[in-house]
Amino acid sequence: MRMVELIEKKRNGFSLSGDEIRFIINGYVKGTIPDYQVAALAMAIYYKGMDSTETAELTSAIVESGEQIDLSPLGKLTVDKHSSGGVGDKTTLIVAPLVASCDLPVAKMSVRGLGHTGGTIDKLSSIPEIKLEMDQEAFISQVKRVGLAIISQTADLVPADKKLYALRDVTATVDSLPLIASSIMSKKIASGANGIVLDVKYGSGAFMSSQKEAEQLAKIMVAIGRSFDRQTIAVISNMDQPLGHAVGNSLEVLEAIDCLQGNGPADLMELCYELASWMLIVGQKVNSVSEARQILDKSLQSGRAWEKFLEFVSAQGGDVQKLLNKDLILSPLKVDYNSAQEGYVHKIDARTIAKCAMLLGAGRETKESEIDLGAGLYLLRKSGDFVKKGEPLICLYTSQSEKLDLALQLLPEGIIIKDHPPALSPVVSSVVR
Ligand code: URA
Repeated sequence: MRMVELIEKKRNGFSLSGDEIRFIINGYVKGTIPDYQVAALAMAIYYKGMDSTETAELTSAIVESGEQIDLSPLGKLTVDKHSSGGVGDKTTLIVAPLVASCDLPVAKMSVRGLGHTGGTIDKLSSIPEIKLEMDQEAFISQVKRVGLAIISQTADLVPADKKLYALRDVTATVDSLPLIASSIMSKKIASGANGIVLDVKYGSGAFMSSQKEAEQLAKIMVAIGRSFDRQTIAVISNMDQPLGHAVGNSLEVLEAIDCLQGNGPADLMELCYELASWMLIVGQKVNSVSEARQILDKSLQSGRAWEKFLEFVSAQGGDVQKLLNKDLILSPLKVDYNSAQEGYVHKIDARTIAKCAMLLGAGRETKESEIDLGAGLYLLRKSGDFVKKGEPLICLYTSQSEKLDLALQLLPEGIIIKDHPPALSPVVSSVVR
């Protein structure tokens, strides 16, 4: 087989066979096929797409490029969830202990932030002393004991995806549906859970801009999951404004704790209940969303979900008491951004808030940047809320005053206030199964 002929085949709109795709992925990981040929192929895929068989074969080849986690020693069905990336998205921190407290094991590997979106591993790093690296044996043993482990994706999982993603990032080929779907699903399949619930987001703070695009991506990922015999469903959710009030690592963990203690904001809790319900369904605990909601609500109200979070953090060596000392955890410079006019909030744009969070130090400018875990924004008002002129809209946290100035200059671009209430859209738009 010659790589140049395979590039030409895809460029001319033909499908690649499983053997051809394996030849490419194996050669790329081994270094016998160079970056420039894979970049040309990625661009051909970007323009010509891939059919469902090719996409499943690509996922399979990526999964086979590295270690695969075998969760069968648990002797129980396990479930996993994945978000396609958003702003203020701390759902994993809430949903994972909530579901685990309903006696359904959650074995989760997560990543650091990607682009403008935050990552669960960065958020969890705000918990003093928590350990997020673990070998496979320790990971499985914790899930057996506690019913929940969340760790950093191991270095040997999907090496082909790591190489491909880095290449796509610099060749303008990230936003190709079959490439995104195979990238996300390869990690989920290799992580070993029997059931997978995907949160596919659309809107200004997401990778997908429209609901239609998110549904297309969801359909491809659900089909891949099924082809690997994993129960997979996708919730399509809106990401035009940040989820909940907190954006920034420590702020988000504190908000997740509020949620687990029964004091979560409505939009965030709505999405968490939806995701957790589908996890209980794919994990064969219940048959319907209404049945799931009753069980989840009981677990939250009784304090069991919060206890499960504490048990999980302590199993991984973290100290929640230290985290609850806000003066130590949040960055020291705190400034309110006040409303320039009276009226109803129509827009607090997720992408602008993400950029401000990055400027304040909460995200990485480059792969190597250090992040300020205590930096971020707390939205005191959200879409639909009324605000008087001069009242605070958003509270900003950072450690460096020059960063505050930059964020304060950018914020007005993302805020729209009008004299009448907006039409509000629900956070959960549809479900693809
Ligand atoms: N997240 C991933 O893991 N991969 C992509 O390609 C895009 C988002």
